[in-house]
Amino acid sequence: MSVSEALKQRRSIKNFDPAHKMSDNEFQHLMEHAILSPSAFNLQHWRIVRVTDAEQRQAIRTAAYDQPQMTDASEVLVLCMDLKTWAKEPAQYWNHTGPEVTDFMVQSITGYYQENSQAQRDEGMRSCSILSMALMLMAQEMGYYSCPMDGFDFAKVGEIINMPNDHEICLILTIGKPLTDPHPKGGQLKIEDVVLKDRF
Ligand SMILES: Cc1cc2nc3c(=O)[nH]c(=O)nc-3n(C[C@H](O)[C@H](O)[C@H](O)COP(=O)(O)O)c2cc1C
Repeated sequence: MSVSEALKQRRSIKNFDPAHKMSDNEFQHLMEHAILSPSAFNLQHWRIVRVTDAEQRQAIRTAAYDQPQMTDASEVLVLCMDLKTWAKEPAQYWNHTGPEVTDFMVQSITGYYQENSQAQRDEGMRSCSILSMALMLMAQEMGYYSCPMDGFDFAKVGEIINMPNDHEICLILTIGKPLTDPHPKGGQLKIEDVVLKDRF
């Protein structure tokens, strides 16, 4: 499937088939490609909690105002980010590039992040959001649909997945097979309403 076709087909699904399961091979294929996504300084901030346990899924559904995707989707992925990737052996993100590049990158990473908690969070959110789109497009190519979700109590879901204090949740991505066609699309703004030439 072409990227343009995947973009046209993708919709946010509300009612997934609870009987459908994604195989481990499919999951592997999905992840292998999605983690090729770009991330700031190649820090790969994403930590993905694949929720399979039925009780845990029900607890997340309750924390998500009873949205059915949380129990019915084939995959419920809590896309978290590690706010402190930059401080955790940063050389590991640049270990294929030769020592000069590695040293330069480690210095740049440390200099940029160590006094800047907003950047730690913002860069993680950006990187995880891009990963999320890659997952949605891959899912589409594999014959699945998805729904990115932030309609839930973030603190509660953090507790349910036992998230460490130096992590945050970006969003939950649900993936599965739809039971019915989605509602018509809400409608897109015109390109000229959202693209500005040179400045506001
Ligand atoms: C950050 C984000 C959070 C969203 N949260 C939810 C959600 O909690 N529940 C839901 O059903 N859809 C959610 N959506 C899906 C949007 O409602 C949907 O993308 C939008 O209406 C456009 O429809 P489409 O994705 O089918 O084109 C979310 C989308 C984004 C990007």
